[in-house]
Amino acid sequence: MASNRTFTMIKPTAFKKNYTGAILKMIIEEGFQIRAMKLTRLTNEQAGAFYAVHKGKPFYESLVEFMSSGPIVAIILEKENAVEAFRNFIGATNPEQAADGTIRKLYGTSLQQNAVHGSDSDENAEIESGFFFSKMERY
Ligand code: CMP
Repeated sequence: MASNRTFTMIKPTAFKKNYTGAILKMIIEEGFQIRAMKLTRLTNEQAGAFYAVHKGKPFYESLVEFMSSGPIVAIILEKENAVEAFRNFIGATNPEQAADGTIRKLYGTSLQQNAVHGSDSDENAEIESGFFFSKMERY
């Protein structure tokens, strides 16, 4: 059975451009409940660990550098079938290919700076949530 939680991050460019409020409004209006949220910043080492699954890919170093370049907003969300529902909701990884009206289409500027991250499996949602939140910090 699918888990009802997923993990997202508002990426540095989207935060810097003050899109956080608009993005959160869309997420909440779509029916996702916020279960944990934190404004923070990743060190280069932490970003490297977060995206370790991509280590060795041509975009890895640049992605790690970007993700540690400024504040991010880390969020745990709850909704039925959350991982799949959220990925469908935010649009394709590449904003150019994302459907009109999706967060990535509206607020993403490139494949790397695609406004928000979304967990790709229940297992990764739990691992990624653990990077930022203890069990006590989840509601
Ligand atoms: P995200 O959902 O955060 O998960 C991994 C990230 O890697 C992805 O969003 C993109 O920002 C980035 N990414 C994936 N594929 C590429 C690629 N081919 N070139 C550059 N960045 C990529």
